This record gives sequence, structure tokens and C-alpha cells, in this order.
Amino acid sequence: MGDKISVLIPEEKVEERIRELGKQIGEDYKKEGVEEILLIGILKGGAFFATELAKRLDLQVMVDFMAASSYGDSTESNGNVKITRDTDLSVEGRDILIVEDIIDTGRTLKALLEIIGQRGAKSIRLCTLLDKPDRRVSQVKVDYNGFKIPDVFVVGYGLDYAQRYRNLPYIGVVEPEK
Ligand code: IMP
Ligand code: MG
Repeated sequence: MGDKISVLIPEEKVEERIRELGKQIGEDYKKEGVEEILLIGILKGGAFFATELAKRLDLQVMVDFMAASSYGDSTESNGNVKITRDTDLSVEGRDILIVEDIIDTGRTLKALLEIIGQRGAKSIRLCTLLDKPDRRVSQVKVDYNGFKIPDVFVVGYGLDYAQRYRNLPYIGVVEPEK
């Protein structure tokens, strides 16, 4: 037990960026006359970022969660995306903000965006804390991104390695065992 983890993005940087994103997103919606949104956090990883972001949005915010399976305990997406937990609230006619921890291949988000689009959302935007653009396989439009990161496996702030380290308050990289 106990992998060595080095800090990639410190806690203060993450918090500062979430504040900025919240301000920007709130202003963008207001400019368009949108006063209420349905924020959908993607479980489990996106839950940490979703709740922090929601607190920084100067809008009426309904909150819900969805879960999709793609990885299991491995570190590579296999392209099979399945909804394992759906929202309680209806997305129909609502302005939806999807909040995810990281976009890697883009497969999970592409599938989720399609499903939500088919359900008659008024608008859909995507906000991710982290983006690994080098790894993209399925193209998705990212409206808001916290940080672009290189192709390294990260943990913390909701992100896990075999279900561990989600509760770290910073973004870290697991060092390979020697
Ligand atoms: P995608 O379908 O490949 O874009 O996968 C996105 C999902 O993969 C995220 O929601 C994470 O759960 C997981 N993931 C991708 N990269 C990492 C990483 O570096 N650390 C932890 N989880 C990751
Ligand atoms: Mg995830």
C-alpha cells in the first residue's frame, strides 16, 4: 500500500481555477439570458469538481448526477460506454452543464452527450477540470476546461487509481514502482 505521488497541480491552483471557471460560466449564461441551469456531475470522479464548481456559479443551479462505466479498474478505456446511474431530474427543455473530471479519449463524453441531446435538452455545455488532448479518439466540443495536461495518469480531486486517491485535494501523478 502507499504509492508515491508527486504533485502536478497544487490545491490552491485548482481552487483558483475553479473560481475563475465559475465566474466565466455564470457570466456566459447570464449574457444569453439563462438564469437557471441543470448541472450534471459525472460520477464518481466528476462529483468533487461538480460540487466545488456549483458553489462558484452565480446562477440558479439544479444539481444531479449520472454515472457511466467505461474503464473498470484498468487505466485504459475500452470504448464500451454504459449508463449505470441515470439522472433523477428530466433534462428536457433545460440548459445542461455536464461536469466531468477529465477527458481522455473522449469516448465517455461523446456517448453521454449524444444521449442527453436525444432527450431534448435546450442546450448542452461541457466543462471538464482536466483535458488530455493528445489522447483524443472521439471528438467532443469542450466548452470549458480547467487545465490541459500531458499524457500522464493523474489522481486526486475525484480521480482514482483502482478506486484510491479520489480524496486528495490536489492533482497528482502516481510514480511507477521501482
Ligand atoms: P474517456 O472516455 O477515455 O475520455 O475516459 C474518461 C474517464 O476515464 C474519466 O472520467 C476518468 O474516469 C478516466 N480517466 C482518464 N484518464 C484518467 C487519469 O489520468 N486518471 C484517472 N482517471 C482517468
Ligand atoms: Mg470518470
